[in-house]
Amino acid sequence: MPDALPFEPLVEEAKLGPTGRPMPVIPEPKPVARHGNARVVAMCNQKGGVGKTTTTINLGASLAEYGRKVLLVDFDPQGSLSVGLGLSPHEMDLTVYNLLMERDVDIHDVVVPSGVPGMDLLPSNIDLSAAEVQLVHEVAREQTLQRVLAPALAEYDVILIDCQPSLGLLTVNALTAAHGVIVPLECEYFALRGVALLKTTIDKVRERLNPRLSIDGVLGTMYDGRTLHSREVMERLVQAWGDTVFHTVIRRTVKFSDSTVAGEPITTYASASAGADSYRQLAREVLSRWPDA
Ligand SMILES: Nc1ncnc2c1ncn2[C@@H]1O[C@H](COP(=O)(O)OP(=O)(O)OP(=O)(O)O)[C@@H](O)[C@H]1O
Ligand SMILES: [Mg+2]
Repeated sequence: MPDALPFEPLVEEAKLGPTGRPMPVIPEPKPVARHGNARVVAMCNQKGGVGKTTTTINLGASLAEYGRKVLLVDFDPQGSLSVGLGLSPHEMDLTVYNLLMERDVDIHDVVVPSGVPGMDLLPSNIDLSAAEVQLVHEVAREQTLQRVLAPALAEYDVILIDCQPSLGLLTVNALTAAHGVIVPLECEYFALRGVALLKTTIDKVRERLNPRLSIDGVLGTMYDGRTLHSREVMERLVQAWGDTVFHTVIRRTVKFSDSTVAGEPITTYASASAGADSYRQLAREVLSRWPDA
């Protein structure tokens, strides 16, 4: 037997990505000539703490780096997206609540800059929890968000809606306003429970309210490639969802909570970090899937 080879043998595994499939070449996005005709995407999973808000902030910031004009919608009464971008919940003038409930409030009155060039924010705080109750009595209650977002479609390339961890009326509003859904899923076994219910909800909204709704992708988050467990969860995800699963996965790192405390995306807080690069790769992958973005 000869000693160890002087080079890494070219085994098949070397080409496999973290999802267990061959890693494709993800193209560099083309610059956009003109802004507008926004794709609206809901970040949705009724399970809490799976990375919805982190993905909204960092995918948004990465798309803005690629020259896209981005609007983030904080659609969670917890207001984590707004706080994660440095806003204080008590100092908001107008929020998504006012936009939904008051007919004389225009979207341009509520939009604020996010601190990231090319990315704006519709902020929320706990007031939004009242909207869930009050909307029940509205005409076309499921279409309320779609109606108030409509004037912004011509100005942005991408609108990302950060949903709350529930499948209630607010989330149904987000799914009705959206062209696509991104489902972040933590790479742990129990993450797979509840996904069937989410899929049923998406199917119902598509049948009854929004025929164009598609699932843009399922994103593995908090992935730890050193554990067999993370790899098994990815394998089962791919078995269940096939190529809907993004090739990009987001690894577990404390940098995400650090950047939240700093009130900015990881792409600016730790621009050269692996976490920032993963979200840039996700932005490229997402853009390669969207027809006109
Ligand atoms: N890849 C990651 N590695 C480590 N920590 C992460 C990662 N992604 C998110 N986190 C942290 O996990 C926590 C939950 O993330 P996040 O708030 O994005 O989830 P969420 O799905 O929006 O939660 P909620 O359902 O409560 O809105 C946060 O403290 C966040 O900083
Ligand atoms: Mg959240």
